[in-house]
Amino acid sequence: MREFAGKVAVITGAASGIGRGLAEWCVRAGVSVVLADIEEVSLDRTGADLKAMGGTVLCARTDVSKRGDVESLARRAFDAFGNVHLLFNNAGVAAGGAPWEATWNDWEWVIGVNLWGAIYGVKVFAPLMLAQNTECHIVNTASAAGLSAGGFSAPYSVTKHAVVALSESLYLTLQQRGTLVKVSVLCPGLVRTNIANAERNRPPELRNEPAPLTPKMQAGRAALEALVASSMPPSQVAEIVFEAIRKEQFYILTHPDWTEVIRLRTSRLLAMENPENPAAEVMKLLNQPM
Ligand SMILES: NC(=O)c1ccc[n+]([C@@H]2O[C@H](COP(=O)([O-])OP(=O)(O)OC[C@H]3O[C@@H](n4cnc5c(N)ncnc54)[C@H](O)[C@@H]3O)[C@@H](O)[C@H]2O)c1
Repeated sequence: MREFAGKVAVITGAASGIGRGLAEWCVRAGVSVVLADIEEVSLDRTGADLKAMGGTVLCARTDVSKRGDVESLARRAFDAFGNVHLLFNNAGVAAGGAPWEATWNDWEWVIGVNLWGAIYGVKVFAPLMLAQNTECHIVNTASAAGLSAGGFSAPYSVTKHAVVALSESLYLTLQQRGTLVKVSVLCPGLVRTNIANAERNRPPELRNEPAPLTPKMQAGRAALEALVASSMPPSQVAEIVFEAIRKEQFYILTHPDWTEVIRLRTSRLLAMENPENPAAEVMKLLNQPM
């Protein structure tokens, strides 16, 4: 897709961070946006801000971990605009640590939002886009953590690897069938967003027993917040994403330092050497996903 003006984009996780950056880019390019997010107050605020920028905006409160919500998102988008040309399966959360220490609730919540959210997005929107028979593009947000060795948050890493696999499978099957629907997978390193406060969106039924933060965890959190504050802005990620859509580029890697980590992991894998992540020490200290 080379021309964006007049197109329609559905963006999940649009009320903050990367999703909001994508939405702002769309409005500036004359793309109508359907903003989907679980956080109603920031969703409405984002909608108002984008309308003030001159955007054509529909806000649809959506929990992407619920199939019915994603189906209703599609109905609302098609009812309002008739077509959807761009889908960003972007909503995501992070929680948990080592595989056995992450709680059942951590696993269920992170898999629900990050993986089922992307699966629902693909299952619901891809057939509608195919039937539409116009140029379309689906971008699934995975992470550099979906292409490198794990070692920080197991649930996060597992879901992001799965989103890469889902996207590759989608890309290959659509390509084999020669359709007009193109696909990319976005694998950023650290971006200046609210991901470190993902807990704000955890539903009450999946909350963990409150546990005091140890000094090490507090230090890790502070270090993560400092890292996030100095990392790539979402507007830059959006520029990279739309350039990739223009070029029909599947893998979108935004951070050169993480490209090195991925290269190292791949070469170890091919040499059948055991995993070792150069960023592991940082991640262990942070006890947080990226
Ligand atoms: N920030 C980073 O460093 C980074 C790096 C790699 C990948 N990512 C990925 O980017 C995506 C966007 O995250 P972000 O960094 O912008 O974080 P963010 O917290 O700023 O934005 C995430 C958005 O998703 C929404 N959301 C959470 N649960 C939801 C649900 N169940 N249904 C609908 N919306 C929901 C939140 O309300 C929020 O608006 C995520 O998939 C994340 O895993 C982020």
